[in-house]
Amino acid sequence: MIMKRLMLLCLPVLLLIAGCTLFKTSCDHHDQTIKKVPNMEHTLAIIKPDAVKAHNSGKIIDRIEQEGFEIVGMKKINLSLAQAQSFYAVHKERPFYGELVEFMTSGPVVVMALAKDNAVKAWRDLMGATNPAQAESNTIRKLYGASVGENATHGSDAPETAAEEVKFFFPELS
Ligand code: CMP
Repeated sequence: MIMKRLMLLCLPVLLLIAGCTLFKTSCDHHDQTIKKVPNMEHTLAIIKPDAVKAHNSGKIIDRIEQEGFEIVGMKKINLSLAQAQSFYAVHKERPFYGELVEFMTSGPVVVMALAKDNAVKAWRDLMGATNPAQAESNTIRKLYGASVGENATHGSDAPETAAEEVKFFFPELS
C-alpha cells in the first residue's frame, strides 16, 4: 500500500523529468545556424541611412525578392565609427572618405547577404550607377538615391570583395 502511494507520488515527477529530457534533446538537434546557399554566388547589400530614414527599406527589400535574390541574412543596425571606417577602408585616401563614414554612421542601415547566380553583378545592375543621376531608369539608385553620397544602397564590387564583406557583417554564415 505504502509502495503504491509512493509510486503514485513519484510518477508525475518522473514524467516531468522525462519530458524535459526529451524536449532538450530535440532542441539540441535543431540546427539554427544560417548557411549560405550551396553552389551559389553571394553578395553584400546595404540599405543606407538615407533610404532607411525615408522609409524605403521595405520597397527595396521587396524588389530584391521580386528580382529572384535569396535573402540569406538580414539585420538592421547602427554602424559604429570603427565599423564604418574599417568597412570603407579601401577608400580612406579618397577626399570623400570622411563624409562617407559620417553619412554611414548617421542612422540605421539594413545589411543583407544575398544569394543568386552571378549575385554580385545582378545586385550592381539592380542598384544602377553610383551616381543616381547617371543610373538607368527603374534601378534602385534612380528611384531612391539623391546624390553620389546619398545613393540608397551599397553592393560589393567583385566576388572576392563580396566574400570579405559578407563575412564582415555575417561571420556566422558558413
Ligand atoms: P558605395 O557603393 O557604398 O561605395 C563607396 C561609396 O562612396 C559609394 O557607394 C558612394 O556613395 C560614395 N562616393 C563615391 N564617390 C563619392 C563622392 N565623390 N562624394 C561622396 N561620396 C562618394
